[in-house]
Amino acid sequence: MSPRTHLTSADDVPEQGGWLFTVEEPNGSLQEVFLVRLDDGIAAWKNYCQHETDQELYREEIGAVVRDGGIVCPKHGSVFDAVTGDCENGPAAGSTLAEVAVTVELGEVYLTDDDVEFSHAGPASAGDDDDDDDTPGSTSHLRF
Ligand code: FES
Repeated sequence: MSPRTHLTSADDVPEQGGWLFTVEEPNGSLQEVFLVRLDDGIAAWKNYCQHETDQELYREEIGAVVRDGGIVCPKHGSVFDAVTGDCENGPAAGSTLAEVAVTVELGEVYLTDDDVEFSHAGPASAGDDDDDDDTPGSTSHLRF
């Protein structure tokens, strides 16, 4: 079991927008993950939609859109349950978000997932040393 990594204070995870960080996958690739506040804790989801995996759920301009306990995909509007990750509507119906294990202890959030390693806070591109914008071109059809 790998040691847990401190991410942030639970108080720093806003009810709207979430908190973004980046992990390293076992194959060495970087993956963005966002925290969302729940009624009784914090959940962490990999930052892509199950309908079109190049579409981010957490966008730099608006963060993650959470409405009535659901995370709304900005592209086509599918809503994922913020607690379970399940989607029962729109083009992503029948899918579930990819979860990352975190825990909250004494008001602090820790990454406890053995399958990934913490890279840095913020977007994957924040770890780049070059100035090239090589992030996928997510687009949105929705306005919030
Ligand atoms: S890309 Fe998310 S519902 Fe289509």
